Amino acid sequence: MARGRVFAATSNPGKLEEFRSLLAELSIEVLSLAGRPPVTFPEEGTEYEANAIAKARAVAEELGEWALADDSGLEVDALGGAPGPLSARYGGPGLDDSGRVARLLAALEEFPQALERGARFVCVVALVGPGGEQTIARGECSGQILNGVRGDEGFGYDPVFQPQGFDGSMAELGPEVKDQISHRARAFAQLEAALAEIPGASG
Ligand code: IMP
Repeated sequence: MARGRVFAATSNPGKLEEFRSLLAELSIEVLSLAGRPPVTFPEEGTEYEANAIAKARAVAEELGEWALADDSGLEVDALGGAPGPLSARYGGPGLDDSGRVARLLAALEEFPQALERGARFVCVVALVGPGGEQTIARGECSGQILNGVRGDEGFGYDPVFQPQGFDGSMAELGPEVKDQISHRARAFAQLEAALAEIPGASG
């Protein structure tokens, strides 16, 4: 059966995997950029919306295809909402996910109590079509930063983020739970009508 297709404007394997599982039921194949002509992405700024649109637009224009991008981040109350849209670059270049997590835990050492460690994941997704059609949606997931890493599923800050109402980190809860409650899942749920417009997608 023919399926719709969309190119994921991301080089983050964790995001790609979540795009795929979140879109599986809509009969949309999510393709990576591997093996395609190189796309030049604009420098990322400090606004989720503008970043997501810029990434999706670059891919849609370069390939003449539907493109989907996500710009996301972790906002920590005790840090005044940082690192936010700069989450992927927190701590400077040269750090990997576990280095950034260690850096975050160190920054929060002076806030040991759970009540002081409120945070939320934010995700803005942009869908851009080959004719310039554009839809964006936002999702959030509230919780708190744990005192240490727990679990090994997911990516990024998942091992230190405990979603509200759960006992355990996102990395312990695993993909089935994450796909129900995450910032990304919530953003995608709002994008459903626009995604159904992709030729071959099931509405
Ligand atoms: P960007 O959207 O490519 O700028 O990067 C977003 C960054 O936010 C990622 O590199 C992660 O560090 C973090 N992030 C976004 N979504 C998640 C998530 O679902 N789990 C854990 N970390 C995330």
